[in-house]
Amino acid sequence: MVFKNIRIKPWIKITFIIAFLIEMVIFIILSLNVLGNGFLFLTSSSLSEIVGIYFSQYIIGILIIIGLTVFATKYGSKIQLVYELTNYIALIAIFPGLIYITINFLIDPIGIFYYFFVHLVYAVAISIVASIILKKLSYRTIPQYDIEEMKALEKGQALLDVEDLKVHYPLLKGILRRQIGAVKAVDGVSFSIKAGETVGLVGESGCGKTTVALAILGLIEKTSGKLLLKEELLPKDYSRIIRKSVQMVFQDPDASLNPQLKVVDIIAEPLKNILGITNRIKLRRHVLKLLEEVSLKKEHLDRYPHEFSGGQKQRIIIARALACNPELIILDEPTSALDVSVQAQILNLLRDLQKTYNYGFLFITHDLSVVHHIADRIAVMYLGKIVEIGNKNQIFSNPTHPYTKALLASRSEVSGEDQEITFVLSGEVPSPIAPPSGCSFHPRCYTESYNELCTRDAPHKIEVEEGHFIWCVNEEVLRDTHDFVF
Ligand SMILES: Nc1ncnc2c1ncn2[C@@H]1O[C@H](COP(=O)(O)OP(=O)(O)O)[C@@H](O)[C@H]1O
Ligand code: SF4
Ligand SMILES: [Mg+2]
Repeated sequence: MVFKNIRIKPWIKITFIIAFLIEMVIFIILSLNVLGNGFLFLTSSSLSEIVGIYFSQYIIGILIIIGLTVFATKYGSKIQLVYELTNYIALIAIFPGLIYITINFLIDPIGIFYYFFVHLVYAVAISIVASIILKKLSYRTIPQYDIEEMKALEKGQALLDVEDLKVHYPLLKGILRRQIGAVKAVDGVSFSIKAGETVGLVGESGCGKTTVALAILGLIEKTSGKLLLKEELLPKDYSRIIRKSVQMVFQDPDASLNPQLKVVDIIAEPLKNILGITNRIKLRRHVLKLLEEVSLKKEHLDRYPHEFSGGQKQRIIIARALACNPELIILDEPTSALDVSVQAQILNLLRDLQKTYNYGFLFITHDLSVVHHIADRIAVMYLGKIVEIGNKNQIFSNPTHPYTKALLASRSEVSGEDQEITFVLSGEVPSPIAPPSGCSFHPRCYTESYNELCTRDAPHKIEVEEGHFIWCVNEEVLRDTHDFVF
């Protein structure tokens, strides 16, 4: 995996530490002289009044140089690969400015009184230029990886295992931001995805689907649970590791595309930032190949996002997701903002790409017809938990959990034209802040298997058939023959 190999070489850090020590010694010697000057002023009766200004100017100057250099170093560059070195770079870049201003305090102790701000501007500029040069130099020491050809994965190999994932958003109140509770957005979700497989994650809006995706990508902190990538347990700080292997396509193409960048730059961004490729010709050639993968053309390279239709924009986003040759792609309602005919094109494109490269897809949607079209396995979520999981045929021909049955029954009432699903279950979705006790579906459960245990006991995993499970308190539900009359 490329990202794991991008490690700053130890000799760079050692060189930086030596440079820092040398600069510090020079600076200490010079500033001792500034201190000496101050005492000379004190002993000279005509200069004793300016000693306070002399010292305060010096200290303010130092603080401003440090502050602005640290800020420029940390926030002035988008090159994430040298992120690990930014503290070292800031420390080293501060000193040229400090030494410059100190020398000026020594050369002309009286004149500095009048030209302080001019020298301060020069000093800050010197430090920021030093920071830029150091960043560029450090960036060059990082090995650039050749753009990998898009390789097909081995079908069926384990890609991602999610085990008992929980994400509780804290609810904060007051000026002191005291925690008064938590939104249990995801509350113990487990599933796995293999190469070449599409897992559909379905459920009503607000049941925690997007939160699952964001937690997998490390974009939000998980409260607990384990994530395994290709059977390897991911470490605590895994977001950087996962960024190459797992890509995400969001619902709204407009929000995901920077309107000021040309398509070529949008798709080249991950190639630069994640793979460390800087050669422009190489980048352009690779971006063109990616555009062709999603049925766009050479003439689209230098256009801006607003010149494309919704479907084309989503193709650009898919091309960007493919740029790092990922293994798993999370698609969060990728077609909900598109017209039905365009939806079908995008779904077919995804299927073709998967056939060729065996990507794993986690396909998040509230739309059961979409999931029917694309998924191999389906996980049904309700209020932060998976309530049923199985392959597509098992879920569609033998839905067993009362919630899944209701979802499917409401779908059958949908007319061909109207893609909106109207949930006809009685009652409201309960709040994830205080989910109902026992089975969180109990206030809406309509089956004859419902009993008082449902309000008390946590549902457990029940096997319906091979690879098909539900979470319920009562095994009687397997024999439930409830016919829907809505
Ligand atoms: N940043 C947040 N802070 C607090 N609650 C949140 C936050 N993001 C989402 N939620 C809540 O978590 C629950 C799940 O949200 P989400 O994962 O977006 O659901 P879905 O994608 O299924 O519509 C919702 O109740 C939502 O209000
Ligand atoms: S545990 Fe009880 S309330 Fe929950 S789905 Fe099963 S029967 Fe219904
Ligand atoms: Mg969502």
